[in-house]
Amino acid sequence: MTKKSKLAAFLAAILIAVLTACGVSAEESTAATMPDVIAADASQDEGIAADAYTMQDVSALCDMLLTRPPQKDFSEKHYDLNGDGVWNAADLSLMKQKLLEQHNMKPEFDFERKTVLLNSGYEMPILGLGTWTQDDETAENSVYQALKDGYRLIDTAQYYGNETGVGNGLRRAIQDGIVSREDVFITTKVMPSNYERAYQSISDSLKRLDVEYIDLMLIHQSGSRDIEVYKALCQGVKDGKLRSIGISNYYTLAEYLRVISDSEIMPAVVQNENHPFYQNTEFQQDVAKYGTVVESWYPFGGRGHTQDLFGNETILALADAHGKTPAQIILRWHLQAGFITIPGSQNPDHILENYSIFDFELTEADMQQMAALHTGTRYENW
Ligand SMILES: NC(=O)c1ccc[n+]([C@@H]2O[C@H](COP(=O)([O-])OP(=O)(O)OC[C@H]3O[C@@H](n4cnc5c(N)ncnc54)[C@H](OP(=O)(O)O)[C@@H]3O)[C@@H](O)[C@H]2O)c1
Repeated sequence: MTKKSKLAAFLAAILIAVLTACGVSAEESTAATMPDVIAADASQDEGIAADAYTMQDVSALCDMLLTRPPQKDFSEKHYDLNGDGVWNAADLSLMKQKLLEQHNMKPEFDFERKTVLLNSGYEMPILGLGTWTQDDETAENSVYQALKDGYRLIDTAQYYGNETGVGNGLRRAIQDGIVSREDVFITTKVMPSNYERAYQSISDSLKRLDVEYIDLMLIHQSGSRDIEVYKALCQGVKDGKLRSIGISNYYTLAEYLRVISDSEIMPAVVQNENHPFYQNTEFQQDVAKYGTVVESWYPFGGRGHTQDLFGNETILALADAHGKTPAQIILRWHLQAGFITIPGSQNPDHILENYSIFDFELTEADMQQMAALHTGTRYENW
């Protein structure tokens, strides 16, 4: 598959994800007429293999989904992927997943735009600011500073207690003409222990951030009722309150698939502890099949551990060779390795330094040296 056709396939898959997310319901989409291309395929082969869907299949089904009112029942066909007796948006979503798996469509980073296209159809900046441990006032200042320096991604969480400060920093930057709301990508998170109020808490976050929609909302970590929380996030997408959704602190494909088992929307992002000493490379490949991108928290190992990384011999040598700081080498590695990252800082000099990494590139040999730093040791266990 060429890069261009890969992109076309990825975009088409995204269109379907968006249609699904738009809430095209089972009732609306059931029993439509099969377009010619599908009908021809189906008549030749009563048993289309689950992994043999083509882009034409998906595009035609997509068109059909938009054909209203539905005209004919074809529930006996192979397109009833979940076997519930009807063909509907859920089947289309399953087909999209299979298609992504089939072509192993790894989302690619665009270093010119400094973004990646998510499986939700939205672009997400690949480098942002983390705000953990910052109170409202500190978060307001660091967010404002970051937006002034060119950052367009801000990471917060209900648990951090600083959504109001993040919203204030964003509003100040908008008032000063630095950015518009549409320019900035805000991520927040809901705790799984909040399962009873997960859906309502989306509105709480919207209010505290003082925005009309949230770009990305994650389940902060796994929990006994996290499947319900994920469903609440799906509802948030359908209601237009959230643009993309994802999960955080899920480290195996089994856990990833478990939490979404009852839902139609694939996670756009998984945010995990990830740094040179603990690289999520295998997991990254597993979830890329679903168009999901891994985002690194603790890109520097987190407070109290940053010197382990900044003082590492390999990283110091690369910093010397490229005329950059160890922090910049580490962040550039995250991006070139395909990880979105959100270094935390409240120091204006560090905030600027951390964003000044788009004027150099690590070589293949440099990347191999960085890959060799993986020890499999995490700093946290949540
Ligand atoms: N989903 C989760 O469970 C989870 C967990 C942890 C974190 N997170 C998110 O990930 C973000 C990043 O993690 P983190 O902030 O905990 O850890 P981190 O980014 O690995 O490290 C932050 C530390 O690095 C220092 N630092 C930043 N830039 C520096 C530079 N250029 N030179 C020297 N020191 C520098 C900061 O101090 P200064 O303030 O002085 O710059 C701070 O002490 C968080 O802020 C949060 O948004 C998510």
